Amino acid sequence: RPGAAQWVPERPGLAALAEALQACRGCELHRDATQAVPGRGAHDARLVLLGEQPGDREDQEGMPFVGPAGRLLVEALGQAGLDPAAVYRTNVVKHFRWSGTRGKQRLHKSPAQAHVRACAPWLVAELGVVRPEGVVLLGGTAGKAVYGASFRVGESRGRLLEWPEGWGGDGVPDGPAGGVAGGAGEAGDPPWVVATTHPAAVLRADPAQRDDALAGLVADLRLVADQLR
Ligand code: URA
Ligand code: SF4
Repeated sequence: RPGAAQWVPERPGLAALAEALQACRGCELHRDATQAVPGRGAHDARLVLLGEQPGDREDQEGMPFVGPAGRLLVEALGQAGLDPAAVYRTNVVKHFRWSGTRGKQRLHKSPAQAHVRACAPWLVAELGVVRPEGVVLLGGTAGKAVYGASFRVGESRGRLLEWPEGWGGDGVPDGPAGGVAGGAGEAGDPPWVVATTHPAAVLRADPAQRDDALAGLVADLRLVADQLR
């Protein structure tokens, strides 16, 4: 089967996953990226924050959420009363997809469903190690990866969602990526999910709407903080 599965070690810890990730050739995105960006955080974190893919800075530094969106995320976590050090941060897709440049900055391009599906075994393995109490889906790509192409942040945010039964890594229960080896398994499914806006979308919002967009992100994260109390 194409995709990342053959590169994912069996019974890994997070360090073994991060190391093996660099060798992944599960899709073509590794070609134009500097390096793969593994998730970051404690193996026993209570919360997983799921983004889309590394950005320009993350690609260069090899760590998730270290650029402008990551800074905004840390600010929003703090405003919601969540300790940024207590969360595990990762992305649906582990290599930076970009197309074109603006000045020195490379412009990100959203991953295609095929990339999301190819990369899913890494996320399945991470969730299997961390086994968080909750997962926060940051933006549409993360939402679609879990719930499928019809997912809309605006319709799903601000309330507790259930992890889809039989999730196989591509938002389609028992779809082509179903039954990924080492999967979180039904017993290990995260008990709840909260979807919210991506911090990069807050940064992209019109200046007049940015405060509201940030307040919306913080409000959703407060719901998460309440769950963890
Ligand atoms: N945006 C993401 O979705 N993930 C990162 O790691 C950085 C920016
Ligand atoms: Fe492997 Fe994911 Fe990178 Fe594709 S994006 S090469 S599946 S780690």
